Amino acid sequence: MPRFTPYHLDLVRELALSPGQRVLVTSAGPGSEVLAVARALGDRGVVRATDASVEMVRVCEAQVAKADLKSVTVERADAGDVGDGAWNAILCAFGLWQFDDRVALIKKWTPALSAHGKVGVLTWGPPDEGDPFELMAVALKELEPEVAQKRTRIEGDRESMQRMFEDAGLSLVRHTILRHTVTFSSAEAFVAALTEGCTWRRISEELGAERLGRVAVRFYDQVGGPTAPLSFDPAATLAIAARPGSDVELAVRPSVKAPPLSGPQLPEIRDEHGDWVKRIERVEPWDEPPADAPRKKS
Ligand SMILES: C[S@@+](CC[C@H](N)C(=O)[O-])C[C@H]1O[C@@H](n2cnc3c(N)ncnc32)[C@H](O)[C@@H]1O
Repeated sequence: MPRFTPYHLDLVRELALSPGQRVLVTSAGPGSEVLAVARALGDRGVVRATDASVEMVRVCEAQVAKADLKSVTVERADAGDVGDGAWNAILCAFGLWQFDDRVALIKKWTPALSAHGKVGVLTWGPPDEGDPFELMAVALKELEPEVAQKRTRIEGDRESMQRMFEDAGLSLVRHTILRHTVTFSSAEAFVAALTEGCTWRRISEELGAERLGRVAVRFYDQVGGPTAPLSFDPAATLAIAARPGSDVELAVRPSVKAPPLSGPQLPEIRDEHGDWVKRIERVEPWDEPPADAPRKKS
């Protein structure tokens, strides 16, 4: 089982998906969450998995074929491509950090949800000082500051998540932190897994073997050498959002009404004629409207 599958299983369980539903899995990568979704929906379900990378689409397709899951189609597409829409759920596991404008992305998902549809996301963090992910990031920042510039984590605290979803027209219905124990036989095995994985792949391609090797050596110094076994519990934030006012089902509660948006609402449309009538009624109720009074809108 891939190391991060327990987080994907949590996401699928928390969304309380039912057999026969339609689910879009964006930035699906190798597809561990795609398999979990397809199993939750059964043969009558519809799963559309998308990823921008041809290679990832190929890997995901192979996993789906191996698991013999007939309800899944895998396509090369941007995460903003919502296909036919009317999704009971739209998922994005560990993919949001790649988008500078996450609100614009989620705005594309909002109208593509069914009446009781949900968006479910996973993102790494809050960071623990001294966990191997963080130590590698620090080593990269020290030795390769320019390559390290692009952050791989987004603000996952409740307030930031609520703001991100609300700006895209959705309200937050669930926010929780997950932890699972992740073990590697050695620090070297951790670096190999990390640099082959989708988050660090771009960085390792950009650096090449020699420069990446120097970053790894700096990391090994922090964790007791390349052969030291590693075991840690990285935190991931799970957030679920839905259309304001809609009733949604979650694993933790069978029926939740998504709250109204708390942020700035739509600008008030002024009723000029109504305002004028109020003024005139109070002062001179018998007056006919003067010629230049705002006209009543039909
Ligand atoms: C960190 S991986 C996560 C993969 C998978 N969801 C998981 O949790 O294992 C991020 C994935 O996003 C994909 N990706 C990057 N930019 C994208 C975009 N604009 N649209 C769709 N997918 C994108 C990458 O190819 C990569 O497979």
